[in-house]
Amino acid sequence: MPAVDPPLALLAELTHRCPLACPYCSNPVELERASGELGGEEWQRVLREAAALGVLQVHFSGGEPMVRRELRTLIAEAASHGLYSNLITSGALGGEREIAAFAEAGLRHVQLSFQDHEAANADRIAGLAGAFERKLKFAAAVRAAGLPLTLNMVVHRQNLDGIAEMIDMAQALGARRVEIAHVQYYAWALENRAALLPSRAQLDEATRIVEAARERLRGVLAIDYVVPDYYGVRPKGCMNGWGRQFLNVMPSGTVVPCHAAETIPDLSFPSVRKQSLADIWYRSDAFDRFRGTDWMPEPCRGCDRREIDWGGCRCQALALTGDAARTDPVCALSPDHTLVEAALGEAAAAAPQPFVYRQFR
Ligand code: SF4
Ligand code: FES
Repeated sequence: MPAVDPPLALLAELTHRCPLACPYCSNPVELERASGELGGEEWQRVLREAAALGVLQVHFSGGEPMVRRELRTLIAEAASHGLYSNLITSGALGGEREIAAFAEAGLRHVQLSFQDHEAANADRIAGLAGAFERKLKFAAAVRAAGLPLTLNMVVHRQNLDGIAEMIDMAQALGARRVEIAHVQYYAWALENRAALLPSRAQLDEATRIVEAARERLRGVLAIDYVVPDYYGVRPKGCMNGWGRQFLNVMPSGTVVPCHAAETIPDLSFPSVRKQSLADIWYRSDAFDRFRGTDWMPEPCRGCDRREIDWGGCRCQALALTGDAARTDPVCALSPDHTLVEAALGEAAAAAPQPFVYRQFR
């Protein structure tokens, strides 16, 4: 087993509750109900333990973290331990008063999601009328509070053609950064894959526009761009390697190395209700199972990229092959790569599909 460094960042998924219903939501298909959520004091203990463990950044997320009335207290708790805190929000709840209070409590950064640059399509994708207008007001409140703003734009077949306007919108709203990420196909997005996978022509045009905008806006707006895995020949280094830098605490207190890990059937995940974060990070089968390179099959085992992409994504390997311990099929060297090609072929041939919206079942 490799030497294990302390984690860099904690994703605090405070709740799965959310006013939006995006069909690519990375939350599990079985959402946690409010009655199963950790309480405010339990979250305060998690933050204390995270800081003691060496975590530097905490990302408050969900669902919609602003659903939790303890959020201001949690931001203050994080700040009191020197943690850099980031709020990842839909912007559909709250406004100037809340943001000003969060800034005063020690919040350092806000990531605000938009579903499109155009109100009607954005609200259709979010499943909530009026959401886009609320987000515009929220962005203004973030800037008024003096907090740096990043816009998160998740792109796919049904909004990708507006990518130039999305970049213009980020600039107009005073964002310092825009993260344009193609949908990753887990959880709800996997259910909606046929409705979301873009065509190769759409992707190539979008990539051309992003590259030109990066040149034009150098020093003005940083543009992060995550291309869809399925069109790559090598996978992404998901989470920068399993159990290397990140841990997610889910609303119930279950701790996972990535947001989709619970889909892996033969792993059981520990809970902060029963174990300390340090125990979980350093001494749990769930975090050790795919750490480092010892677990790797061929072709990863003998590949010179094995400590660059760490064999790709375990959850994608599971979703596509039924076995989380296989090479990510996105890799063209994987014996299962034809599964990705088949999915692309099916998506190209499919008629437009209606969305299955995220909802409690
Ligand atoms: Fe990465 Fe494995 Fe593919 Fe090599 S064979 S590029 S390590 S996924
Ligand atoms: Fe779980 Fe990639 S989402 S390893």
